[in-house]
Amino acid sequence: MTVSRRADFPLLVANPELHYLDSAATSQKPKAVLDAMRAYYEHDNANPHRGAYDLSVRATQRYHDARTRVARFIGLADADCLIFTRGTTEALNLVATAWGHANVQAGDEIVVTGLEHHANFVPWQQVARARGAALRVCPLTEDQRVDLDALRGLVGSRTRVVAFSHVSNAVGTVNPVNDIAQIARSVGALVVVDGAQAVPHMRVGFDALDVDFYAFSGHKMCGPMGIGGLAGRRAILETMSPYQFGGDMIEFVRDDYSTWNVLPHKFEAGTPNVADAVGLAAACDYLDGIGMDAVLSHERALVRLLSSRLAEVEGVHVFGPQPEQRSGVVSFTVADIHPHDLATILDKDGVCIRAGHHCAQPLMRRLGVPATARASFYVYSEERDVDALVRAIERARAIFASPQLVE
Ligand code: ALA
Repeated sequence: MTVSRRADFPLLVANPELHYLDSAATSQKPKAVLDAMRAYYEHDNANPHRGAYDLSVRATQRYHDARTRVARFIGLADADCLIFTRGTTEALNLVATAWGHANVQAGDEIVVTGLEHHANFVPWQQVARARGAALRVCPLTEDQRVDLDALRGLVGSRTRVVAFSHVSNAVGTVNPVNDIAQIARSVGALVVVDGAQAVPHMRVGFDALDVDFYAFSGHKMCGPMGIGGLAGRRAILETMSPYQFGGDMIEFVRDDYSTWNVLPHKFEAGTPNVADAVGLAAACDYLDGIGMDAVLSHERALVRLLSSRLAEVEGVHVFGPQPEQRSGVVSFTVADIHPHDLATILDKDGVCIRAGHHCAQPLMRRLGVPATARASFYVYSEERDVDALVRAIERARAIFASPQLVE
C-alpha cells in the first residue's frame, strides 16, 4: 500500500474519526488548493479581460496560466481548446447543445452506453427527441463492461455520435476508450467522453486519445466545486456556434448581427470563474506531485482489499468488473438492507458512503436493483477506512437480523 495523504487535507485532519468514502461524489480539498484560492483573492482579484489597470491584467494572466496548467494535466497541447465550464455536466450539455442540435438530423442515431451518468445520457436523449433521431443504448457484459461486439452491431451509417464514460461513476468500470472510439470512427461518428471519474484517478492524455470531446470536473480531483472543463478538437470547435451569449464571447455587436470571439472565449460567456480555475490548477500541481500512477495504484490496492473483505461478508454482492478493470469505486448491495438504510447506519460510525441510483437510473434498471451502496477511495483513503466500513456493515447486518426489527 502506498502512503495516504490524509495529513494534507484540513477537513480530514480536523475530523480524525471520519471515514470519508464518497470521493466519487466529491473529493476533499488539500491545503495547497485552499491556500492558492485564498492568495488569488487576497492579491490578484479583479475582473479579467476587462480592465486596463494592472490588477485586472494580473487576474487575466492568472486565468490564462490556470488554463495552460490544466490543459497540460489532461495532455492537451492546444490550451485554447480547453473550455472552462462549471463541470462535466455543463461540458457535456455544451457539446450536445452546440454540436448536437446543429448536426444531428431526423433519422440519425446517437449511441450511448448502459453505464452512463444522466449527464451523458439525458442531453443526448433530448437532442434525439428534438431532432427526430434515435437514441441507441449499448448493452453491457455480465460484469458491467461495455459490450464491444454489441457496439459493433449497434453503430451504422446513421450513427452521428457515440458518447460514453471513460470510468463509470456507479460501478467503477474503466472503459477502453480507444477501442470504443475506433468502433465509432469506423462509421464516422463524433466521439464524446465523460471523463469525470477518470481525470482525478489516472493519467489521461487527451491528444493521444482518438476522441473529439472529453469532459471533466474540478471538484472530484481536489479542486473546488464550480469549475471543470471541456477539451475539444480545434477543427470541430471552430465550426460550432456558441450556445450562451453575453460578455467576453463577443467580437463585434451590431444592431442586427454579432460575431464571436476566438477560442476559448467563444464558449465562455460572462465573467469567468478565475479563483476556481486557479484552485483547479493548484489541484493539478498537487496531484502531479504525487504522480497519477501512484494515485491509481493506491486506490486499486484499497479496492482489492475491500473487495476481498466484502467477499467474506454474507449477503454482499459487489458490482462491476475485477479490481484491475475498475477505478477506486466499490459498488455493492447487502441482502435485505436497502442501501439508504445501510448508509444511514454507517454514518453513525462516521463512515460516509453514497447510496442510491448514482444518477445512473438506466444502469440500475439493467442491474435489476433500485440502488446500490458505493464506497469510493482517493489519495487520503486508508486501510483503517476499509476496516471501519466492513465493521459498520457487520453492525448493520446484526441490527437487521435482530428479532425486534423483524417483528
Ligand atoms: N456524479 C457524482 C457521483 O457519482 C455526484 O456521486
